[in-house]
Amino acid sequence: MNILFLDQSGKLGGAELALLDVVKDYPNALLGLFEEGRFRELAEQNHVSVKVLSHQAIAVRKESGWLAGLSSLGQLIPLVAKVTRLSHDYDLIYANTPKALVVGAIASLMSRRPLVFHLHDILSLDHFSSANRRLLVGLSNQFASLVIAVSQASLKSFIEAGGRAELGAMVYGGFQPEDYCDDRSSQTFQTKAHQLRASLGLQNRFIIGHFSRLSPWKGQHILIDALAQCLPDTIAVFVGDALFGEQAYEQELHAQVDRLGLNDRVHFLGFRSDVVPLMTMCDVIAHTSTAAEPFGRVIVEAMLCEKPVIAAQEGGALEIVESGVSGWLVPPGDADQLAKTIHHCRDHWEEALAIAKRGQEQAKRRFDLTATRQQIHQLLEQVIRARS
Ligand code: UDP
Ligand code: GLC
Repeated sequence: MNILFLDQSGKLGGAELALLDVVKDYPNALLGLFEEGRFRELAEQNHVSVKVLSHQAIAVRKESGWLAGLSSLGQLIPLVAKVTRLSHDYDLIYANTPKALVVGAIASLMSRRPLVFHLHDILSLDHFSSANRRLLVGLSNQFASLVIAVSQASLKSFIEAGGRAELGAMVYGGFQPEDYCDDRSSQTFQTKAHQLRASLGLQNRFIIGHFSRLSPWKGQHILIDALAQCLPDTIAVFVGDALFGEQAYEQELHAQVDRLGLNDRVHFLGFRSDVVPLMTMCDVIAHTSTAAEPFGRVIVEAMLCEKPVIAAQEGGALEIVESGVSGWLVPPGDADQLAKTIHHCRDHWEEALAIAKRGQEQAKRRFDLTATRQQIHQLLEQVIRARS
């Protein structure tokens, strides 16, 4: 199967990391990116053919209105022309992000190649302007042969926004357990985790890890507020960067830490590629999104690392974590409840360890990359078969 994969981002967000695991399964594929960056480098290191199709990121944001869309037409037209030309050599166009859907839809119309949209989002007004939501649903209904949603919550949001139910399929993100918890590798991760703790001066501290890009809806501020209510030996470590222009939020987080006098208890490590040893270093991992998380790779990764995870009770997290069984769920945006759950976890450490163990078993079983790849492959074959 010859596939032209399209992604708007040059950065390494969850949608891009998830896509890379799929693309690697198709040796003849081409990955077309709308922006230069780390994603291209990582894809090439993984022997994926990549073409950067635009040298300036498209300025429209998820929450922008029609006007911003119109003003970006100058950027879109040459990009659509390039993608259309390329797509003649492929069996299928696979759009992995909203802007890739816009470009892919027009290209698919011109080249008569089937279009698949992988929806890594929740199409709610928390995440999208109503204009952009209508555009994405309209384009999917009109041009896509298949919409793969990352969770039931994501699929439901597509249908509720007017998406045609018969287009939709749901496939959870998948992981290779050996990257997280293999017997051989775990010894190495433990050693690295030990070194990381020492290098940060955090021996004998209770570490809460948070692994997300810095963005208001990822809710890092909620964990900082909760930390102020935790015992003084509790430390928060934030792993992740402001990927999509959220530098103002990053400044706000630093100001919040100053205001609460938590400077010696909060570490911002920026974007890291050694997530597994860093997770291994933590005692608990918190996920604090204030709007529904479409899926939440970090939640599954924390479980695979056998860590007790406390996640925000909405969206994909509800499908990943069974509260009190394989992790804990707390109401989104509720710092008091988060602090109470952290206390509970420390006070009931045996229970926390059992939950982490169960979480790991469930995550291994339910979010396996081989199964994810098989499901996607079958869906794509059906699309191609239906066309021919
Ligand atoms: N991640 C990373 N380095 C960082 C922070 C995050 O590699 O410094 C990874 C993390 O391990 C996860 C992904 O980025 O695989 C984030 O995906 P998720 O679905 O949790 O959230 P998204 O950012 O896609 O909304
Ligand atoms: C998106 C979503 C995240 C999801 C990831 C991979 O970036 O925000 O929830 O886990 O894609 O599907």
